[in-house]
Formats: sequence, structure tokens, C-alpha cells
Amino acid sequence: MDNVIKKLNFTKFVYGDKQFQYANKVEYLAEGFIKYHKENFQKYFCLNESEFINKNVLDTGVGSGKHAAVLALMGANVLGIDLTEKNIEKANELKNKLNLNNLDFKVGNLMEPIDSDSNFDLISAHNWMQHAENPSKVMGNLVNKLKLNGKLYLSLYQGNTFRFLIAQIARNILNQKDYNTCESLVRFHFPGGFHQFNNYLDIYLENIFDDFFVPYCNTTSYKVVLDDAEKMGLKPITNIPKKNMNYNVDNLALRIGFIKIKEKDYKNVNLKFTTFINEFDVDEPQIKDIHDLINLNINYFKNSNDQYEKCSFCLGLYRVRAEVNKYTDIEKRFKHLKYYLEQSLDKTHWSIASANPIFQNIGKK
Ligand SMILES: C[S@@+](CC[C@H](N)C(=O)[O-])C[C@H]1O[C@@H](n2cnc3c(N)ncnc32)[C@H](O)[C@@H]1O
Repeated sequence: MDNVIKKLNFTKFVYGDKQFQYANKVEYLAEGFIKYHKENFQKYFCLNESEFINKNVLDTGVGSGKHAAVLALMGANVLGIDLTEKNIEKANELKNKLNLNNLDFKVGNLMEPIDSDSNFDLISAHNWMQHAENPSKVMGNLVNKLKLNGKLYLSLYQGNTFRFLIAQIARNILNQKDYNTCESLVRFHFPGGFHQFNNYLDIYLENIFDDFFVPYCNTTSYKVVLDDAEKMGLKPITNIPKKNMNYNVDNLALRIGFIKIKEKDYKNVNLKFTTFINEFDVDEPQIKDIHDLINLNINYFKNSNDQYEKCSFCLGLYRVRAEVNKYTDIEKRFKHLKYYLEQSLDKTHWSIASANPIFQNIGKK
């Protein structure tokens, strides 16, 4: 089977068969979720809540449809598109539960041109585009269906963050065949679940599988996205942070609102947001310090024939991220990671698939 199709099928498996089927019980939308996303949409589309009424809105990569439902609750006429039938079934359950007549869903691969008779006033892409084979192409497909003076909201994953450093180490080790083993070992590495980390937006079960297994994980930077956007006739309408990212941040979504000021043929321009940022090749002393150690770990675990060992190592890595995710001191953050990488190579510490002994020592050094 063609590699691109294989990857698309695995994306469907992770999101359609797994993630949204066990993660979201779509019985209701939490008040806090509605409030947060109403404010977020107002901020990035630069509109008051009343200005959403009767707007034609496209929400993309909708998962179980929760964000699309918030837009419909604000009075917009919403179409939600997602890659998998199972997610669209879930999204329709939510629509029926909430009794929303101004909300429709359909299945579609947004790497392909969007099949819709009309263009939209507003288009949203919330935390999904980086899992497509080529995010620039997706952006182009969205911009093509946006009216002139229409607005686009993007929430993307930003590289040069601790989250994606951890993800890239794990992604160099794991492959699709390790998914089920990893899933079965989560409970041993996180016996208390994920609430203990007190950061439900960044540290949660599904995030492990998003970051470690979805075939594409194309991280980016403001510079790259703004460059692509300009070539597509888009102008930013929200503030762009002046500071570059660095690794003392665990994770920070890259969010921008745009207005379409020109019709452009994006297919003939040289777009940049087509791959991930290489987290190992950065001019950052903390990364340079552990560069060789990272490679030693990758080489050892990637070539290990013991699936339990390699999955345990990667879940342990996620645990390091979870443990240090609130730190703002870059040295402290990296001290833990370095210690973990050193200890992992020392086989006497391993008790595979038991509650990670390595952590009993963290902080004591
Ligand atoms: C991380 S989830 C995000 C879901 C939702 N937007 C959110 O923020 O909670 C990624 C979603 O993108 C969808 N997706 C991935 N690739 C896609 C593609 N090529 N076309 C359409 N949807 C896609 C997946 O099926 C999944 O529902």
C-alpha cells in the first residue's frame, strides 16, 4: 500500500477508532469549555459574540465536534468537517443532544479541495492541521473557500518547546506497531491518572498518542506561518508575540486570526509550513548539553527488540514532561530530563512495565 495512504489510515485509526471513542463522552459540553472557547473565538476572529449570528462558518478537523458546537451556540451556521466517519457520528450525537439545527457535519479529507457550493465568512482550524501530510496545502484549501474579507483562525502546535522535544525523541523510537503495547502500559506509568499534574490542557492521556504516534506532527513558528499566510493573501488581525519560543516553556499554542485581503493562487507559491521543526538542531546550550545523550537513547531504544522496554522508556519520557511541566526554570527542567536519559541507559534501573523506578530518584540528585 502507498505510504501516504498507510499514514492516512493510521491517522484514522488513532482519531476515529481510538481517541475520540474513549476520550469524549459526548453527553454535554462543560460550562467552562463553552465560556473559554466563546472568548477564544471572539478574540481570534475579532468579533463580539452577537456578530457571530448568522455567519457561515466552517470548522475543520472537528474531532467530536465540540468546538463547532460552541460556534453554533453563538448563533453561527456551522459546517464541521473531519477525516473519520466515527468522529462525524460522535459529532452528530452531540448535535442531536444539544438540539442544534444550525450545525451540520460531514466527512472529508482536508488535504483535498473542499467540496462546498458556497464560500465561508469564517473558517476555524483548531489544533489539528499539523497532523496533515502538508499543512500549507490544507491552509490553501481553507483559504480557497474563504470569502474576500472573510476571517481565518488557526491554532497550531509551536516547535522549539519542551513538549515537542520530548515528542521528537519518542517519535524517533516508536512506530505504529508499538501503539497497543504503549496503550496497555499507560496505567503502570500513570497509576494515579493525569489529574495529579493539574494541567488538563497540556498533560492528558490522548496527548501521548497525538504526540508520539500520529504519523505527521508538523510543528511550526510564527515566522513560517506568517510567511505562508502573506503569500496566500492573508493579513494577521491579532497580536503576534515578539519573543521567540524557548525550552523553558512546556507548550504554547500558536494562535493567529487573519483576514483575507486578496485572492491568490496559493498553488504557485513556495510555502514553508510543510514539515516539523527539528528540535535537536537548535542553538540552545541546554539541548547541546544533552544532544549526544539523546542520540544514545534513541539508538538504543529504537533498535531494541523488546517492545515493553521501548514503550516504557517513551512513557517515562512523557512522565518527565508531566512532572516538570509547570517549571519555568529551564535548568531545572533539563536537569530532570538529563537525569532520566542517563538513568535509562543504566539497565540496573529497569523494571519494565512496573511503576517507573526512575522517578523515585528524581529530585534527590
Ligand atoms: C488533535 S484532533 C483535534 C480535534 C479538535 N479540532 C480539537 O481541537 O479538539 C485532530 C483531528 O483532525 C482530524 N484530521 C486529521 N487529518 C485530517 C485531514 N487530512 N482532514 C480532515 N481532518 C483531519 C482527525 O480526524 C482529528 O479529529
